[in-house]
Amino acid sequence: MTPEEREFQQKIDAGIKVEPKDWMPEAYRKTLIRQISQHAHSEIVGQLPEGNWITRAPTLKRKAILLAKVQDEAGHGLYLYGAAETLGIRRDQMIEDLLAGKAKYSSVFNYPTLTWADMGAIGWLVDGAAIINQIPLCRCSYGPYARGMIRICKEENFHQRQGFDIMFTLTRGTPEQKAMAQDALNRWWWPAVMMHGPSDAESKHSAQSLQWKIKLFSNDELRQKFIDQIAPQAEYLGLTIPDPELKWNPERGHYDFGAIDWDEFHNVIRGNGPCNRDRLRTRKEAHEAGAWVREGAAAYARKRAIREAA
Ligand code: 3HC
Repeated sequence: MTPEEREFQQKIDAGIKVEPKDWMPEAYRKTLIRQISQHAHSEIVGQLPEGNWITRAPTLKRKAILLAKVQDEAGHGLYLYGAAETLGIRRDQMIEDLLAGKAKYSSVFNYPTLTWADMGAIGWLVDGAAIINQIPLCRCSYGPYARGMIRICKEENFHQRQGFDIMFTLTRGTPEQKAMAQDALNRWWWPAVMMHGPSDAESKHSAQSLQWKIKLFSNDELRQKFIDQIAPQAEYLGLTIPDPELKWNPERGHYDFGAIDWDEFHNVIRGNGPCNRDRLRTRKEAHEAGAWVREGAAAYARKRAIREAA
């Protein structure tokens, strides 16, 4: 370690936040740009599966709630793009990387939303997994990321609660509605479990991210926390988690669970999920359709700069 790197690590170990203008190892900056920009992409692409049901919501109330949630996700994306920009990357570069397939977003958003119950399963499970992952990020070492997360987590709680409420309503409804909720749980359980990333043995960034306190817990620790939280909730709903090996282990004080299909995980990340092409195509179309707004804002900014310079 160089003297600056040693001093930097001491600062991290002392729990002192790193701010944009502080010295930081280039690798710290790079891995934060990678993680924060992909987090932002996930928020933006994550709007698409739910957006599909805004016009199909069963009541005006459910429509208003879903609309509010999807709008929140857009705001989360903007906060996170803003946090990434403090590290010196331009927003249009991040967008370009996403649209060119060079940057990732969470694999969970490459699955289709087939019924209204999927809105419940996504809020309950996907936002539930996101909260487990994002609460520690409120205490991560990079100031702008940690502060952005505090606001985002407050809204995520509403997201998860409205999802659970949908599942609760369906499981107390007709047998068909309960079956619809079980079908959604069957399809969303494993993609939500994979949200916490590869196993600790497989994770290529975790060791360094833990040392730099970008991560405060490992992928497997957060995954276990998620499973321990959701298993009793599924029981309360009268739903069965699609994992025959899921069982409370009193010795461990955790739920044991079955093997994760890592081939599926890597396959979806490689672009072969059910909706990968559709998601990117939709984002490209939205980006092209919004070009006139960006051009207008840039022209206005240029004119204003000339006026102010005069
Ligand atoms: N989907 C897609 N790619 C994934 C992934 C997933 N579920 N899990 C891991 N990966 C990728 C990583 O990005 C990395 O690839 P890269 O080097 O090209 O970036 C590779 O797999 C190896 O994984 P690592 O565990 O080594 O990578 P990380 O240390 O970055 O850990 C992570 C992965 C836990 C997702 C971490 O990046 C993280 O905590 N990110 C912030 C939270 C986030 O992005 N959540 C995504 C969902 S956001 C959301 O759900 C919004 C809510 O409103 C619904």
